[in-house]
Amino acid sequence: MLAEVCLSLSGEAGKVSVLARSAPRLNTLAARRSNISPIPCDYADSDGLIRALALAADTRGAFDLAVCWVHGNAARAMDVVAAALAPGARVVHILPSDANEPVGDAAHAALRARHLSLIWHVVRLGFKIELARGTARARWLTHAEICRGVLDAIASPASSSTVGLLSSPGAPGPDVPE
Ligand SMILES: NC(=O)c1ccc[n+]([C@@H]2O[C@H](COP(=O)([O-])OP(=O)(O)OC[C@H]3O[C@@H](n4cnc5c(N)ncnc54)[C@H](OP(=O)(O)O)[C@@H]3O)[C@@H](O)[C@H]2O)c1
Repeated sequence: MLAEVCLSLSGEAGKVSVLARSAPRLNTLAARRSNISPIPCDYADSDGLIRALALAADTRGAFDLAVCWVHGNAARAMDVVAAALAPGARVVHILPSDANEPVGDAAHAALRARHLSLIWHVVRLGFKIELARGTARARWLTHAEICRGVLDAIASPASSSTVGLLSSPGAPGPDVPE
């Protein structure tokens, strides 16, 4: 979903590390830019995540920005990432619009409070309304729309932003799940 964000950052930043489980997919992305490094790791494995981030920081330097899209089944992952960052580093934390996701606004606020030395920006993913034959219909965001919103968030001094709409009085949200 965030591949274009990685590629865009690699054009501006010195070094970009990308963490996911599938080594072949990571290697395909890293092959596109010499300054993208893969970190093959399951973020639900906290000990493995601690080791992987420490190794990356030791070999490539301290992280100054973390862009995080973490599924709700990895309760400790964001704390582990936050603890791996130097004071003053920025975290762009992407959250879904689904209110049933375990990592919601309250959990994000608590996370933020545990890591006050970091500069946080929460990006909430919403949906889009399109007009089709005079009828308003909701659809989920495309990867391109999500990546554009995340890149805008990275460039923004604000502490939160929304991509698309979170609700619409004129039309129900998209069918769930996406
Ligand atoms: N509007 C909304 O609220 C909303 C919310 C959610 C999703 N969406 C849409 O839903 C679609 C699917 O979302 P998705 O999250 O499945 O996107 P995705 O494109 O699969 O991105 C998830 C990324 O996280 C990695 N990942 C997943 N679990 C991991 C783990 N345990 N450890 C390390 N890395 C892990 C995946 O790679 P590996 O599998 O290789 O680990 C992948 O690179 C998106 O395309 C988006 O458009 C919309």
